[in-house]
Formats: sequence, structure tokens, C-alpha cells
Amino acid sequence: MAHYLIFLGSTRTSTPPAPARLGERVSKTCKRLLSSLPDTTAEVIDPLTLDLNGPFKPHFAYAKKAVPTDLDALAGKIEHADGYVMVSPEYNHTMSPALSHLLNHFGASLFAFKPSAIVTYSMGQWGGARAAVSMRAFLSELGCLPVSAMIHIPKAQEALSDDGQFVQEQERWESYFGRTLGQLTWWAEAAKAQKAEQDPATLSPTFNTSPAQRNAPTE
Ligand SMILES: Cc1cc2nc3c(=O)[nH]c(=O)nc-3n(C[C@H](O)[C@H](O)[C@H](O)COP(=O)(O)O)c2cc1C
Repeated sequence: MAHYLIFLGSTRTSTPPAPARLGERVSKTCKRLLSSLPDTTAEVIDPLTLDLNGPFKPHFAYAKKAVPTDLDALAGKIEHADGYVMVSPEYNHTMSPALSHLLNHFGASLFAFKPSAIVTYSMGQWGGARAAVSMRAFLSELGCLPVSAMIHIPKAQEALSDDGQFVQEQERWESYFGRTLGQLTWWAEAAKAQKAEQDPATLSPTFNTSPAQRNAPTE
């Protein structure tokens, strides 16, 4: 059994532009298609269910006993998931601040050695392709390397219904999603099997004091 987290990269409840939170539809679609695969479960992580509005304080900055319960619960889910789907709208040609803010709350070691899939959307004709480029660098640094195939949904407001169904061309859309989700599940299963053979931390120890631990040995 493999379990995936789908990060919903929008907290935009206001309009214009309408409709708001198209990301809900996109996340539902990802959940539906991933859950339809054998031995596969998926859960949507919605930033609106977390209180992230105070001064920025990541999970790893709290004393162990003082971590807010919901933040700690999500850290546990990230640690135990087999892979991730990162759903982002395009805002000003880059990934959504809601998604980067949410992900910045967690250390890379929770995501490391597991794959991710990039899913972008927009109301316009490019489907968030420019945002996707910035996500590759972000997700690589986070340790959950993005698979090569990506999903971009242009005019998502027309392509998807409220409940995440394709309005037209269902078969072609499912095949398009299937290519990326197939890469994600293949890599997730491969990583899981290899972890059972060898603990990756023996080759690449996690930072326990500072990211400077990875620096080249220069003055
Ligand atoms: C601040 C802001 C910036 C945007 N920038 C872009 C953009 O660069 N390219 C694009 O195609 N759409 C852009 N859009 C339109 C969004 O793709 C569209 O509103 C989408 O529905 C946003 O996703 P959401 O509803 O899940 O928040 C922008 C929207 C907002 C609110």
C-alpha cells in the first residue's frame, strides 16, 4: 500500500478573478485519479485547515513539546507518506505563495528520498507552465525530487467541474494525468523498496545543526 499527500496550493477565497480556489478542483482530480490506482491512497492537505498566519515559525523551530498539534500532525503525515503531489496555480509567473509558505514550515528531511509530481493550473492558456519551472528548483532543494513529466491545466475553470471531473475529453485528460502519476508511483515504489535495503541517512546524513553542514570545505 502506498500513500500520497496532495498539497493544495491556494488559500484564495476572495474574487475577482472568479471562481476562487480553482485549486480545490485540481486537488480533487488528483485525489480521484491516484486513489483509483491499485493499493494506493491519497489525502489532500489544505492550508486553510491550518493556522499559518502569525509570524513565520517552522515546525523545526519549536521545542519538541511546544509544537502546535496540527503542525506536528502534518509533519508526521509528510514523514510517513510515500510521495507528494504539489498543486499550484500560477501567480505572477511563479508558484503560489500559499504553497511555498506551507512547505517552508517543514524540514527537508521529512520529504527527502521520496518523489513529487508537479501539477499547475491557471485560468489562462499556459496552464501555469512558468510556475512549474520554479517548482522544480524548490522541490529539488526540499529533497522530494520532481518526476520529469508534469501536469499543466490551461483554462482550469473550463476543463474541470466543481467536483474535479473533466468536462470534456475525459480519456485524453486521464491519459495525460496518468503519465505523470505513473512516474510518481513508479519512483515512490522504487524508493520504498530501496529504503528497505539501505537507510539513505547512512549515505547522506540529515543536517542536525545547520544547513552549513553541506558546505564545501572552504574558509
Ligand atoms: C495574484 C495573482 C496573480 C496571477 N498571476 C497569473 C499568472 O502569472 N499567470 C496566469 O496564467 N494566471 C495568473 N493568475 C490567475 C490565476 O491563474 C487564477 O486566478 C487561478 O484561478 C488561481 O488559482 P486559485 O483560484 O486556486 O487561487 C493570477 C491570479 C492572482 C490572484
